[in-house]
Amino acid sequence: MKTILVTGGSGYKGSVLIPKLLKKYKVISIDTEWFGKNLKSHPNLRIINLDIRNISKISMRNVDCIIHLASIANDTMSELDKNLSWEISALSTQLLLEKAIKDGVKRFIYASSGSVYGIKKEKKVIETLSLKPISLYNKAKMCTERIIQSYKDKIEIFIVRPATVCGYSPRMRFDISVNALTINALTKKKIIVFGGSQIRPNIHIDDITDLYLFLIKTRKKFTGIYNAGFENISIKSMAKIIQKKLKCKIKIIRDFTDPRSYRLDSSKLTKIGFKPKKGINNAIEDIIKMFNDGYIKDEPINHSVKWLKKVIKKKNI
Ligand SMILES: NC(=O)c1ccc[n+]([C@@H]2O[C@H](COP(=O)([O-])OP(=O)(O)OC[C@H]3O[C@@H](n4cnc5c(N)ncnc54)[C@H](O)[C@@H]3O)[C@@H](O)[C@H]2O)c1
Repeated sequence: MKTILVTGGSGYKGSVLIPKLLKKYKVISIDTEWFGKNLKSHPNLRIINLDIRNISKISMRNVDCIIHLASIANDTMSELDKNLSWEISALSTQLLLEKAIKDGVKRFIYASSGSVYGIKKEKKVIETLSLKPISLYNKAKMCTERIIQSYKDKIEIFIVRPATVCGYSPRMRFDISVNALTINALTKKKIIVFGGSQIRPNIHIDDITDLYLFLIKTRKKFTGIYNAGFENISIKSMAKIIQKKLKCKIKIIRDFTDPRSYRLDSSKLTKIGFKPKKGINNAIEDIIKMFNDGYIKDEPINHSVKWLKKVIKKKNI
């Protein structure tokens, strides 16, 4: 049985991905657990509470593939401690790759971000367009991609540029667009939209996690960079979809300019055989159901920025 090492395994994506991986593989999860312990124990799962800045301590001799998710995972969080963000994103990834290559790991899958493109007017933002990252988060992702690519003659590399993810996870995030708007509609009966015309691509949590599984088995000749986003819609349109399901009010703050506006084209990915199965509608319905059934509450730990600020202070990171 192959072994997959997942960094950030207790995070929003990791805690949905790992139960799926465990149906086929042995899994090692490495995470600082800043947002809690979100994985159930399993005979084929080894959970290691470790900061990836110390990754050199871990043996990867039996690891076949690494799925690298650990990072400070949005714009505002990355600004809390700029040095920490660079260290975790860029430097730790370099340490991780050095160790992986030394220990004979064959494949490396990296969660970059679709936001590396910055502001793009093109209707089809494809992988070969220039990158103009505008925040520290996007810049760190771009530089980390380049570090990873410099190792491509030594390890098989897949770089994924995901859209904003939506839907339910054991580690719920309410700092990302569809999830944030839905929880506001559920708890406050009101959605506040800042600007609203900015276009954002989206991907369902089941599709992004299925994609990582797909890439473990994808043929070596397809290594490279892939966009992963399937519904490019405005924030205002997202709010309207939610309003139809929850009958809430929408308040639009018009004098607000959010420069982050782009559409992803993911046909390179669909050409190698990956097909998404879900979308924004499913994500909203899942969140509503989990909220009504009592599995989700609007708690401080789900608001990543404020929570991480406290964690950094408390743990003196
Ligand atoms: N969720 C999205 O919409 C989205 C979109 C595009 C890209 N991404 C990228 O996907 C990855 C996973 O995102 P997520 O939504 O699961 O975020 P998340 O914040 O829920 O998960 C990240 C996990 O990494 C862990 N972590 C952070 N620094 C660490 C360190 N130094 N050592 C060990 N563990 C550490 C955290 O404790 C957390 O559990 C991130 O790299 C993110 O930038 C996410």
